[in-house]
Amino acid sequence: MEIRIQDLKKDYRQKTVLDNISLTIGNGMFGLLGRNGAGKTTLMQILSTLGKPTSGTVTFDNIPLEDTRKVRPLIGFLPQEFSLYPDMSALEIMRYLAALSNLPMEVQRQHIPDLLQRVNLWEDKGKKVRKLSGGMKRRLGIAGALLHDPQVLIADEPTVGLDPQERLRFYELLREFSYSRVVIVSTHIVSDIEAVCERVAVMDAGKLLFTGKVEALAQKAAGSSIHRTATVEDGYMEMLRRLEREVEK
Ligand SMILES: Nc1ncnc2c1ncn2[C@@H]1O[C@H](COP(=O)(O)OP(=O)(O)O)[C@@H](O)[C@H]1O
Ligand SMILES: [Mg+2]
Repeated sequence: MEIRIQDLKKDYRQKTVLDNISLTIGNGMFGLLGRNGAGKTTLMQILSTLGKPTSGTVTFDNIPLEDTRKVRPLIGFLPQEFSLYPDMSALEIMRYLAALSNLPMEVQRQHIPDLLQRVNLWEDKGKKVRKLSGGMKRRLGIAGALLHDPQVLIADEPTVGLDPQERLRFYELLREFSYSRVVIVSTHIVSDIEAVCERVAVMDAGKLLFTGKVEALAQKAAGSSIHRTATVEDGYMEMLRRLEREVEK
């Protein structure tokens, strides 16, 4: 699978939220890094066919984004704010989502246990959602997003609110899925990207500041005072400024 984004622009009234983004994304883990307001969610919503660009094109293996009948089955989306029914069990949620997307019964019968096992929730399949930890809920969200076996998995800031151990486990899981798929994950935490993504795009104020391999980003950032646990709140802005200067050159 190859996603080609060309000159993508999104305006909300007078405000440009995505400013001529061009980017090609292939199989593997792709990280979208940027502080709050950078435009990550807007971009991911457009890629998931939930939002329309003002101009520009996106294709999925040459299928244009506008062909939603063909594109939607290719995509699984885990939104930034996602809610599940608190009184349903993990298994019930999966059955409900499967019914919503019209999966045939035989597929459900095989696929649901398989997915719950893969996200390590099979033992807890009878637990009500409100009894699940943040990490477990996220894993259930991924299992749900993968029900129709999409080629592209898009997860918007999936590790917000997870403790470091859960975060790492969650990324390992995404990484497994990325061997045969495109997995796009957004975050504002530098170390998340460093640890698990092969390629990364850095966005700020709707612009792409950097795209390339994670090692190249690490090299660019080296020497500034960012450290591996940098977030928006501390050294991250310094790295962005440095990258901005390089982009301007
Ligand atoms: N529906 C909307 N109407 C107007 N402005 C919006 C809307 N959605 C997002 N924005 C603006 O677009 C910018 C990018 O937001 P967003 O894509 O959510 O960034 P991120 O996910 O990186 O935090 C922000 O300045 C935000 O205020
Ligand atoms: Mg966002």
